[in-house]
Amino acid sequence: MTSHPSHRFCIAPMMDWTDRHCRFFHRLLTRRALIYTEMITTGAVLHGDRARLLAFDPGEHPVAVQLGGSDPAALAQSARICADLGYDEINLNVGCPSDRVQDGRFGACLMAEPALVGEGVAAMKAAVRIPVTVKCRIGIDDQDPEASLDAFARTVVAAGADALIVHARKAWLDGLSPRENRHIPPLDYDRVYRLKRQNPALEIAINGGIADLAAAATHLRHVDGVMMGRAAYQDPWRLLAVDRELFGAPAPFATPRQAALALVPYIEREVARGTRLNAITRHAVGLFHAVPGARLFRRHLATKGVKPGAGAQTFLDALALVRDDADERTAAA
Ligand SMILES: Cc1cc2nc3c(=O)[nH]c(=O)nc-3n(C[C@H](O)[C@H](O)[C@H](O)COP(=O)(O)O)c2cc1C
Repeated sequence: MTSHPSHRFCIAPMMDWTDRHCRFFHRLLTRRALIYTEMITTGAVLHGDRARLLAFDPGEHPVAVQLGGSDPAALAQSARICADLGYDEINLNVGCPSDRVQDGRFGACLMAEPALVGEGVAAMKAAVRIPVTVKCRIGIDDQDPEASLDAFARTVVAAGADALIVHARKAWLDGLSPRENRHIPPLDYDRVYRLKRQNPALEIAINGGIADLAAAATHLRHVDGVMMGRAAYQDPWRLLAVDRELFGAPAPFATPRQAALALVPYIEREVARGTRLNAITRHAVGLFHAVPGARLFRRHLATKGVKPGAGAQTFLDALALVRDDADERTAAA
């Protein structure tokens, strides 16, 4: 039996953002975080370019794949494929509110169909030995989160879900874009804390608006884990403190610069295979914070990193614009 990865600190699944290059980079910054792929539909897993969509670097572990879908047989088949590829967890998306997703009867609209989600979870659990988890909202539209989240949790837990990751706000399916659905419906952390109190044996991670590691530590007094999305992606320098602050373990690198240098062999390897530099470095532009040259680093990558022929040297040139001594001071602070 595979050991269950910890959900104490997770980096959220984010379409177009948490691709394999992003995940490789994040893994340089934290060894302990559980990282998630972008959502991949069962249709894409079963009929798409599987090798490209599901590829990951062995160094990414522990890494969870997030599936989008609702047909239990398709979910089970997709889960088996992902488990065979070596993913550490299967996560089901019950939180995405986009129209495309609603048409396919999956994502957040499944909050209204706990029985169907339960069938999907049970089918996946029967198909794989790795953990199966669900990422959901506290409710949708005019649902009363008190009742809807309890009913949802009861059903998916009875179906065998190993953990629940709850984005602590509703999704409003009519009238709000996916982007608006990430900040307009109000956050209700207490609702998630109550769910944990009522289900002490269920592993629960909280998500939504967690801005820094201090906030993460506060949530960890109430729930088992936190999932950070935008703050982790936009300010990846935060991730370098995760192992130390949340796990009491040494940071993988003493400074952001050292982590950046560790990315260079990966860049060389990928560029040699035909990957554009920018496809990798676009995830790293926010690596430096509050040090002289951070903005120049960002700008150099945004302008020179997109040019044909850009490669590891372009990245090193950008790095040379960041002041070393200031970098060392930040790390020591
Ligand atoms: C660009 C972007 C893409 C996202 N894609 C997904 C996705 O594929 N699956 C998913 O469950 N949530 C997705 N989300 C939502 C995040 O996982 C997370 O629930 C949300 O951003 C709230 O967390 P945060 O406030 O820490 O960012 C996405 C968010 C962003 C910003």
